[in-house]
Amino acid sequence: MTDEAGEERPDAWWRNAVIYQIYPRSFADGDGDGVGDLAGVRQRLDHLASLGVDALWFTPWYPSPMADGGYDVADYRGVDPLFGTLAEAEELIEEARRRGLRTIVDVVPNHVSRDHPWFRAALAAPPGSAERALFHFRPGRGPDGRLPPNNWVSEFGGPAWTRVTGPDGSPGEWYLHLFAPEQPDLNWADPRVRAEHEAVLRFWLDRGVAGIRVDSATLLTKDPALPDLVPGRTPDPHPYADRDDLHEIYRCWRRIADSYPGERLLVGEMWLSDPARLARYLSGDELHTAFNFSFLQSPWDAERIRACIDATLESHEAVGAPPTWVLCNHDVTRTVTRYGRADTSFDFAGKRHAVPSDLALGTRRARAACLLTLALPGSLYLYQGEELGLYEVEDLPADRLRDPMHVRSGGTDPGRDGCRVPMPWSGTAPPFGFAPDGTNPWLPQPAGWASLTVAAQDGAPDSMLTLYRSALALRRAATTRAGTPAGASALRWIPAPTGVLAFGWGDGLLCVVNLTPRRPVPLPGGHTVLLASAPVDDGTLGPDTAAWLRAGGDDEPPSVVT
Ligand code: NOJ
Repeated sequence: MTDEAGEERPDAWWRNAVIYQIYPRSFADGDGDGVGDLAGVRQRLDHLASLGVDALWFTPWYPSPMADGGYDVADYRGVDPLFGTLAEAEELIEEARRRGLRTIVDVVPNHVSRDHPWFRAALAAPPGSAERALFHFRPGRGPDGRLPPNNWVSEFGGPAWTRVTGPDGSPGEWYLHLFAPEQPDLNWADPRVRAEHEAVLRFWLDRGVAGIRVDSATLLTKDPALPDLVPGRTPDPHPYADRDDLHEIYRCWRRIADSYPGERLLVGEMWLSDPARLARYLSGDELHTAFNFSFLQSPWDAERIRACIDATLESHEAVGAPPTWVLCNHDVTRTVTRYGRADTSFDFAGKRHAVPSDLALGTRRARAACLLTLALPGSLYLYQGEELGLYEVEDLPADRLRDPMHVRSGGTDPGRDGCRVPMPWSGTAPPFGFAPDGTNPWLPQPAGWASLTVAAQDGAPDSMLTLYRSALALRRAATTRAGTPAGASALRWIPAPTGVLAFGWGDGLLCVVNLTPRRPVPLPGGHTVLLASAPVDDGTLGPDTAAWLRAGGDDEPPSVVT
């Protein structure tokens, strides 16, 4: 931390922080309407403080018609009544701070809600007006302009354009939306868009937030010609993704963040497969960090995971930025389910519905992944419920599904509701303490979650919650002992057999992960086991198991042998 605005110290908090993602709708319901809210979060701050995380990232809590879970923002300076009030958000930020928890808010710059005053004004204004210039309005192609202006496809399926109707009911121009029609894209070539977002950043930074998560951070700027895409070919430059003119915007945002004391963080949501392209945003005067989704997409395979770690470290080191590690979030299949499938990789296009998953196997691997991830250098994001080992709920009744990704795919994509089911806190039946008894949560919870509640796992030696608490406490202790952030110390690979990852980290610690499906491996001698994801009493690490060890004074460099 620094007292002086703009002076980053090498031990800035965000360089090795563990950041817990809260999806407010599904975290805890304080007012009994079945939907989570800020009152619920305030009642559950104990859980977060005792877990041992450093910061809380809230997905959008702003006024919104909730066409896309709040990522369709109608007012960037308020709180939706469903969640509470702005005053409550301010109190929450302060209460969390008093418990040592920083707050990160989610800003959505690519698009607004159809209910945003700017878009309403644009609809009421004629083609060519200043109001419409804030968005991408264009006449259609073909006879009577009945075809969209280009062939871009929305991230949620279907055309990325919707036609508006004039006051007299006649069809008019089309507007661009890379996501749902309820989320019109802003025109970042217009200086008013830039000025407004800079003011929004300041609004939340003034309220003491420690950071901003930038939604869809690679998509803001567009080629003004809005050219067609050629099927099967990735154009360079791309007309709307990862364009060079984005960097200037983030340089400006960085100056704003750095003008505040206390190391404020900008973290970008960037689905970029090329680590070098990602690192271009992290070169010191733009974003501080970005989500590393390649890790989340990697299958449970030692070589693939190691290759991902190496590529990530190399590209980040080149620009002096800390890497981040993400296994799960509100957009992807929950880790336990993914790791229990035959294909353990993730990608949106191939997202599978009801592909069988061995949840016991998935849980075993998720436990090992917990120790692997928490030992890596850099910062880490933990999605609510990961610490409980929650699985994807794949049998939600069709009439309860809300996600536009599901609805707009005509039901072929399972959507993201299954990873957004309300948290189980206590009790033996729904709503499991998520809401007052008798309340119907907005999505139904599986009866099987009775054994996964916070209360059921609290203090249970073999529970996922206990593993996370222990690992987070050890990580923190290692930080304090080393005098530098444990996560910031370099990772040192150690020779290990095929299918096994072994590396030194922190202050004399060793992490060994056996990703093989059947073969146990002996642990190196002369070491004390500090923590393991499954019993290692006989000195061997079983399949899909990880352990943290401390060197016992042996002069020999450690190695794992079969
Ligand atoms: C990324 C968010 O994580 C996702 O939930 C949302 O649907 C899109 N951006 C659009 O805002």
